Amino acid sequence: MRAASSTAAGLGGAPVPARAEARVGIDAIGVAVPRRYLDLEDLARARGIDPAKYTHGLGALEMAIAEPGEDTVSLAAAAGRRALEIARLDPRDLGLLVVGTETGVDHSKPVASFVHGLLELPRTMRVYDTQHACYGGTAGLMTAVEWIASGAAGGRSALVICADIARYGVATAGEPTQGAGAVAMIVGAEPALLELDIGVAGTCSSHVHDFWRPLGQREAQVDGHYSIECYLDAVATAYRGWKARAAARELVRTGAPAGEQLAAICYHVPFCKMARKAHTRVRRCDLEDSAAPWDASVEELRAATSFQEQVEPSLGLCARIGNVYTGSLYLGLAGLLHARGAELARRRIGLFSYGSGCTSEFFSGVVGARAAERIAAARLDELLAARERISIDEYHRIMALAPGAPLGEPPVPGGFRFTGVEDHRRRYVGA
Ligand code: CAA
Repeated sequence: MRAASSTAAGLGGAPVPARAEARVGIDAIGVAVPRRYLDLEDLARARGIDPAKYTHGLGALEMAIAEPGEDTVSLAAAAGRRALEIARLDPRDLGLLVVGTETGVDHSKPVASFVHGLLELPRTMRVYDTQHACYGGTAGLMTAVEWIASGAAGGRSALVICADIARYGVATAGEPTQGAGAVAMIVGAEPALLELDIGVAGTCSSHVHDFWRPLGQREAQVDGHYSIECYLDAVATAYRGWKARAAARELVRTGAPAGEQLAAICYHVPFCKMARKAHTRVRRCDLEDSAAPWDASVEELRAATSFQEQVEPSLGLCARIGNVYTGSLYLGLAGLLHARGAELARRRIGLFSYGSGCTSEFFSGVVGARAAERIAAARLDELLAARERISIDEYHRIMALAPGAPLGEPPVPGGFRFTGVEDHRRRYVGA
């Protein structure tokens, strides 16, 4: 284990004291998205709804549309390949592959197993999926971080991939909050993007039916407004748990709102407005926990400014890709570093992961000094620019395809595609 650099800085640029602890976190991010997207104004018009409901009411501009050839495996493998290339990591230095997903392709064989084969990773690795709705990727990330910090990794790194296809079905209330994609993270020592505050997290879980997907169903069941309440209850408890631990470790000053001491906060983003609601709740926790009186109308103004500064920069990719379930928080992180990586260097940020059902975690980390340069290698603008906007008719045609009916197109360079089932085995091709 190496001591942290004493030059690293934390809250609002204040120096973070040197620690004799492992420096572990996210070293590189690779993103993969379907090649098609639907403009949400087109969807609103087709449904006879004011487009402002989607663009302003939900904060959603576009959503990724996956066809059966772009399944969870092919998206996960493409993102994983990109992350490995960006980190320039020899696959022989990997000891763990975890895929967090709630839209796997088999009841037994994990997505991670397919990805392991497609990327030709070493036989000597641990390989498995983690599932708890949208929290599955965070479960994988925490496992990887703690595995490395404990010394059990023996110097090896981990590949953690969050991959999902969010599907609610045509003409449902959830329809404008669909999306698809994968975010792959190389987790290792001395990370370039984000060093996590190990052991400084708040968690909250409870048995609720806010969102679920019964076996055999492609579309999620959701109690939409109740799911928002469950998320907000969870963020309040998880945030307070993080705050107590952060204060005990002297990562935040007591006597000042802890949330305001974070340079930015990334939330799980089922739709962008949810991040605004979550941020308002986090601020409310700080106000309730402080002895000082507060004025609701002043707070409303302050919350709007704080949202613009601390949260909005993380929403650029989410607004154009939609919900990626397990990947949404990390799409937010990628978007934040893409937009503000240079100015956030060496500053502490917060992250909130929510999985319906439910479980959740608020945690934090310090952005790396080279984060802007490292995230630039993910070429996020190019990734979005290469997509094709489809018509509402084409969207309906794709939504009506059977899960085993890929369009038969070749993969994009660096990508993979599901080509169909032969002898009960799913087949893939890479380019
Ligand atoms: N112009 C501007 N805004 C408008 C508008 C207009 N013309 N018309 C409506 N709005 C606003 C509404 O005021 C509302 O804003 P507020 O929430 O700030 O009040 C917003 O648009 C949405 O309107 P409705 O609540 O009427 O929308 P709805 O009932 O049709 O559906 C939804 C919204 C419940 C989120 C639905 O899309 C849904 O069920 N989505 C899936 C579930 C989901 O994402 N839950 C989030 C928490 S669970 C989670 O995070 C896990 C996960 O990933 C699924």
